[in-house]
Amino acid sequence: MCGIVAYVGLNPAFPIVIDGLKRLEYRGYDSAGIATIEPEGDLVVSKKKGKVADLESHIGSSLPVGSVGIGHTRWATHGPPNDTNAHPHRGASERIAIIHNGIIENFAAIKESLKCRGHNLLSDTDSEVLAHLIEEVMDASSLDLFDAVRAALSQVVGAYALVVIDKDNPGRLIAARKSSPLVIGIGADGSYYVASDATPIVGHTKNVVYLEDEEVASLDLEEGLRIRTISNDIITPEVHALEMELESIEKGGYEHFMLKEIFEQPQSIRDSIRGRINLQHGEIKMQGIDDHWDRWENASRILILGCGTSWHAGLVAEYLFEEFARIPVEVEYASEFRYRNPIIRPDDVVIAISQSGETADTLAAIKTAKSIGAHVFGVCNVVGSSIPRETDSGAYTHAGPEIGVASTKAFTSQVAVLTMMALHVGHRKGNIPQDRFSRLLAELNNIPELVEKVLGQASRIDVIAEQFANAENALYLGRGFQFPIALEGALKLKEISYIHAEGYPAAEMKHGPIALIDDDMPVIFIAPMDDVYEKVVSNVQEVKARGGRLLGVVTEGDKDVAALADHVIEIPRCDDALAPLLSVVPLQLLSYRMAVLRECNVDQPRNLAKSVTVE
Ligand code: G6P
Repeated sequence: MCGIVAYVGLNPAFPIVIDGLKRLEYRGYDSAGIATIEPEGDLVVSKKKGKVADLESHIGSSLPVGSVGIGHTRWATHGPPNDTNAHPHRGASERIAIIHNGIIENFAAIKESLKCRGHNLLSDTDSEVLAHLIEEVMDASSLDLFDAVRAALSQVVGAYALVVIDKDNPGRLIAARKSSPLVIGIGADGSYYVASDATPIVGHTKNVVYLEDEEVASLDLEEGLRIRTISNDIITPEVHALEMELESIEKGGYEHFMLKEIFEQPQSIRDSIRGRINLQHGEIKMQGIDDHWDRWENASRILILGCGTSWHAGLVAEYLFEEFARIPVEVEYASEFRYRNPIIRPDDVVIAISQSGETADTLAAIKTAKSIGAHVFGVCNVVGSSIPRETDSGAYTHAGPEIGVASTKAFTSQVAVLTMMALHVGHRKGNIPQDRFSRLLAELNNIPELVEKVLGQASRIDVIAEQFANAENALYLGRGFQFPIALEGALKLKEISYIHAEGYPAAEMKHGPIALIDDDMPVIFIAPMDDVYEKVVSNVQEVKARGGRLLGVVTEGDKDVAALADHVIEIPRCDDALAPLLSVVPLQLLSYRMAVLRECNVDQPRNLAKSVTVE
C-alpha cells in the first residue's frame, strides 16, 4: 500500500526513481510524485493525481538531473487523491522532502501543535506533519538529519516507512521503518536504493538489507550505510542476496501481468511442491512442521488467519485439515480476529496465510496469537517479508513475484502448500492409509499438467466471457471443497470487472439469493463430480427452473450439468480434495476476459492495492 522508491548515487536519480515507481504501481495508484535535489542545490518536487504516466506527462521533457531522489505512488488514506495530497511533502522552509507509507495515528495532535507554532500545512494527509516536524527539530537543535529524524519519530505513534532528503545534505537519504516494509539495495558503485519491496531494486543490485521495525538508516555517499534504532542503539546491517530475477517481474509478452500469472500456474504450483513430495518413499517433507511436530501432533485446534484471497485459501485448508488431519479448524479474517477478545489456547496451532507477508491485519493478528502462546506457522510468498520473520515456523509458497493486484498464482500455490501440510499432518498422525496417501501424492504431483490442460481451454472461455461481459450481477455456487472456490471466483470478478458478484454455498442459495435469479442473471456452478455432485445437480435444476444463464465448471465427460447449463467448462478428473486447484483456473480466466471486454484496468483495478500495509 503506497509505493516508495529512493536513490542516491552518481547517476541521475529521475530515471531510476520513475522506473521504480512503475514497478511499484501495483501498491497504489491514486497519485504519484517525485523529488530530487538538483546540482545547484534546489529541491524540485513534482506531483500529480493519477498514475505514474500522468506524472511523467506533467513533468514533460525537462527532466531533473540530480543524483538524489525520492518517489511515491499513493493509495489514499487521509485526504482524497489530488495533487496537493500527493507525496513528496515538504517542511515549512522547503528544505526537506519526505515520502511516507503507513498511518500516523497521532497526526491530528501533532498537526494542531505545529499550527500553534505557526506552521502552515497544505494537505489533508497525516504524512505532511512528519516533514514539518523533522524540519522543526533540525531548526531548533544542532542535530544532523539522521538524529533529527530519530528524534522526530520518537514523538510519532503509528506505522511508517519513510524516506527523507535534505537539500543541505545532497549526498544522503534517511530511511525509517515501523510496521511498514522497506528494503535497502546496496549498489556496486557505492549507490543506494530504498524501496517498499525489492521489485525496483532487482534490476540494479542483488545485495539488500531489510530494515527492521523502529530502525532508521542513513545512506550516505561518503559515510556509507549506518543503521540505528530510534532509541539510538547501533545495528550492524545484515546483507542478503536477492533471489528474484528481473524477468519474473516483467510482462514477458503478455497483455497483462494477471494473464501472465494465470498462465504461470503450472510452473508456480510445480515450484510450490518441488522438493516437498517424495513419490518414491511415499512421503512429504515439510521441515517447518517436522521441527515442531509436538505442536501439530497435540494441536486441539487449528486457527487459520488471512485476508482477501488468502482467507479463501484458508477456507479450502479448513476442508483439507478436517478431512486428512482430523483436527478441528476455524478460519478467521485477521482483521476481525485481532479486535475481538479471541480465545486462544496454548495448544492451538495458528496458520497465517499471506501472499505479500506484509498485510497489516494479518501481521497484527499473529502478534496477538503469539503473545497468548500459540504456535504460529506462516504460509507466505514473499521471501524475507515481515510475516515469515514474525512466525515460529512456516513454508514459503515459491510462486514467484505476483504483480497483478488480483491474486491468481499465489492462491493456487497457497492451496498446494496447504494441501501438502494437511496431508503430511494426517499421514504422520496415521489418519491416511499409505495407499491412499501415495495415490494422492502422485495426483498432486501431476496437478501442474492438469492445470495446463485447463489453460488449453482459454479461447473457449473467452467466447463464454463475451456472453457474460454485460452482466450487472453474477452468482457463484459451489459446495464442499468448491464453496471457497465460489467465493474466490466471485471476488475475482468483483475486483477487476466491477460486476457485483456473490459466492454462496449452492444449497444455501434457497435461503435468499434465489430471489435474485431472473433470465439475465449469470449463475456459475462449480460442480465437479465429487461427493456432493448429485446434490449440486439438484441445485442446478432449481436455478434452471427460474431462468438464469448457467455456466457449469464440470468434470470431463459430465452429462447431468451439461444437459442443464448454457455453457460448460471441463476440468480433468481428480481427487475431490485436489479439485480446487483446477476449478479456480477457468474462473480466473473468465473474470480476466470479462474485465478486458469491459475495458477495465485489469492489473490496477480502481481503489485496490496489492499489499495492504495499513489496517
Ligand atoms: C489485498 C490484495 C488481495 C490479497 C489481500 C491479502 O486485498 O488485493 O489480492 O488477497 O490483500 O493479501 P496477502 O498479501 O496477505 O495475501
